[in-house]
Amino acid sequence: MKLRAAHFVDAQRLWARHMHMAKFGATPRGGVDRQALSAQDIQAQKVLLEWGSELGLVPATDAAGNLFLRLTGSEPEAAPVMTGSHMDSQPTGGKFDGIYGVLAGLEAMQAIHAAGIVPRRSIELVAWMNEEGSRFAPGMMGSSVFSGTTKLESILSVKDQRGVSVQQGLAEVLAALPSLPIWPLKRPVHAYIEAHIEQGPILERESCSIGVVSGIQGKRTFSVALQGEEAHAGTSRRCERKDALMAALQVVQALSALCNDAEDLVKFTVGRFQVKPNAPSVVPAQVEFSIDLRHPDSLVLQSLGDQIAPLCARNAGLCTATVRELSNARSLEFPQTMRDLIAGNAQTQSISCMEILSSAGHDARYMHTVCDSGMIFIPCAGGISHNEAESANEMDMANGARVLVETLLQLAAS
Ligand code: GLV
Ligand code: MN
Ligand code: MN
Repeated sequence: MKLRAAHFVDAQRLWARHMHMAKFGATPRGGVDRQALSAQDIQAQKVLLEWGSELGLVPATDAAGNLFLRLTGSEPEAAPVMTGSHMDSQPTGGKFDGIYGVLAGLEAMQAIHAAGIVPRRSIELVAWMNEEGSRFAPGMMGSSVFSGTTKLESILSVKDQRGVSVQQGLAEVLAALPSLPIWPLKRPVHAYIEAHIEQGPILERESCSIGVVSGIQGKRTFSVALQGEEAHAGTSRRCERKDALMAALQVVQALSALCNDAEDLVKFTVGRFQVKPNAPSVVPAQVEFSIDLRHPDSLVLQSLGDQIAPLCARNAGLCTATVRELSNARSLEFPQTMRDLIAGNAQTQSISCMEILSSAGHDARYMHTVCDSGMIFIPCAGGISHNEAESANEMDMANGARVLVETLLQLAAS
């Protein structure tokens, strides 16, 4: 009897690969700091390419710095099925966010290889460039450019906090990797499946190995700048100061009040806050901070987001507020056909599963605009994520890869 591909998923290998990748950008507290297009990202990409080459996968990149590894199907001209996620992390990120989707995809490829199956459509593994948006904002740059939602030119000039642009970062990656072919953006893709840790507590609480993701909640991001004037901390009159920090505090308080809902559905986060010149005896002249705003209802998200700029202006006192919107993504639902396929593949293998909404953002958001897309979640310990303590267990990780590989094969046969 021919064994199905899922049989060849190796839980220990999958775990060991996560621990290996976690060395690139390892933090002293057991987490990962692997910024997009950084030296650590390049190291991780090199290892992924090596593992891919052992399986005979065909490597490539594109103009947005996405990395592809193709398992060629028997009809190579047919649009491929794609799977993957991202390898960049938050500055105090964990060992599983993003990289799990990439390594579960590789494990699926390895299982297909071991089972001796040649799918009709090619299956491609992808590591999207800059999902987190922590070095270069906003996030999901690679997938939004691949999908045609964002123009390549508009991301190239984005700079990190040291003034290095995405264009420079992309050139460094290209120089470091062996001459990879550059595949076009906006290529046809038949279907996309992304595996990811849940990043929340629900699956663990329900003792469920697989989350069949119903959709992704909407998210808008902004950058707010308050411009004041430097002055002497001892001599300037308080009533005449244009103190950008005091103005920012008023603004953030007003925003926080606007977003305060009894149901706790509005997620409002100021995660980055920078003061200039940041000197003890100088009245701050400039503050810049980020806003990450999320809500499952797109109408509520739209209305709240639209109130941000006028509210900042009203609360800035003697300073000037400038609000820039960096991204605006509505809530979305994945097609029922994809959800049924994933659930069916979990049930056939007697792996527990349930429907779940993704409160976090993922590259599948943009692939959803290109082709039928879906997501497979696995639990993470305590629901902890974007945190160095992030963890997941070997059995759930393998179960995710087992459901993934069978789903990919069905899609590649269709
Ligand atoms: C993704 O990392 C997100 O912040 O939702
Ligand atoms: Mn992620
Ligand atoms: Mn993340």
